[in-house]
Amino acid sequence: MKTVTVHTKTPYDIYIGAGIRTQIGEQMKKQIAPCKAAIITDDVVFGLYATQVRQSLEQAGYTVCAYAFSAGEASKTITTWSNILEFLAEQEMTRKDVIVALGGGVVGDMAGFAAAVYQRGITFVQIPTTFLAAIDASVGGKTAIDLKAGKNLAGAFHQPRMVLCDTEILQQLPQSIFADGIAEALKYGVLGNQDLFVQIAEAGIHSHLDEIVEMCVSMKRDIVEKDETEQGDRKLLNLGHTFGHAIEWNSAFCMSHGQAVGIGMVLVARAAEHMGKAKKGLTEQIEKALQQHGLPIHCMYTAKELTAGILHDKKRKGNIIQFVFPYEIGHCEIVDIAVSDVEALANIAIGK
Ligand code: GLY
Repeated sequence: MKTVTVHTKTPYDIYIGAGIRTQIGEQMKKQIAPCKAAIITDDVVFGLYATQVRQSLEQAGYTVCAYAFSAGEASKTITTWSNILEFLAEQEMTRKDVIVALGGGVVGDMAGFAAAVYQRGITFVQIPTTFLAAIDASVGGKTAIDLKAGKNLAGAFHQPRMVLCDTEILQQLPQSIFADGIAEALKYGVLGNQDLFVQIAEAGIHSHLDEIVEMCVSMKRDIVEKDETEQGDRKLLNLGHTFGHAIEWNSAFCMSHGQAVGIGMVLVARAAEHMGKAKKGLTEQIEKALQQHGLPIHCMYTAKELTAGILHDKKRKGNIIQFVFPYEIGHCEIVDIAVSDVEALANIAIGK
């Protein structure tokens, strides 16, 4: 089992290993005395893994209850969130107890946000069940729900007490869901690790999954330790996300996050290359790596549509939109673009 320690205000460990879901209770017990544990999950993950996790927790002495909501982004609402809070209250959970978020990014965000506010904050543990959540949402303490006006508009920073990533669960994901994580892993390579990019682009991922998860979460750890609440460097993690969110928004969230971020990286690389800021050939390198794993590279929206999506995003800062420009594999910088210039940038990005 691999361990990565995150030194945030409250430090915590990320455990990575194949099959560790059966050791979850023992691992948790080392840091959280047996108490009530509320598993928060979705109805799909519930059917797959809740029994094993429950058994492991019960064997370690925890008293377990479970709450499952319908899987999918459509559930990431204030209603589901308040239902979770009511459930915690019905179970008479106290600040000495623990929430166990078992699922992908939606579950982690919702359970984490419930943990952030229930009794003004209780302990929670992340057990990510998608590759994407394992290398992104489960680490760093961002928790949120969606509002009618947009994604992740209400939330809190609340770090988990520990993260347990069972890579055997990730290995069993359907290829399209696994590929979402590949796009995010490539993002870490473009951000700051050429070897990681080459490894993902050219070699098999499944045979090196533990190492790849460790490399990605270590990179995220380094960034989050410097900037826990996204005042500066943490914004680098948004590489591909500004165009990516605009694509998701235009698709009415039918396109997956990973696919949209992949296309978003291609678009921003093309813009950076065209403006003479990026190394020649960078866009093609990113396109090839994505295609290698069956991920899309083409944007089906106009510059106007992309601009509407970008201006709708919460990351707008007055008249400035911050883009993460890749200059070469392993080196990116945050660039301020005036709102009035975004459509022109989008035109360049889509190759017009
Ligand atoms: N998902 C980006 C971050 O955690 O900052």
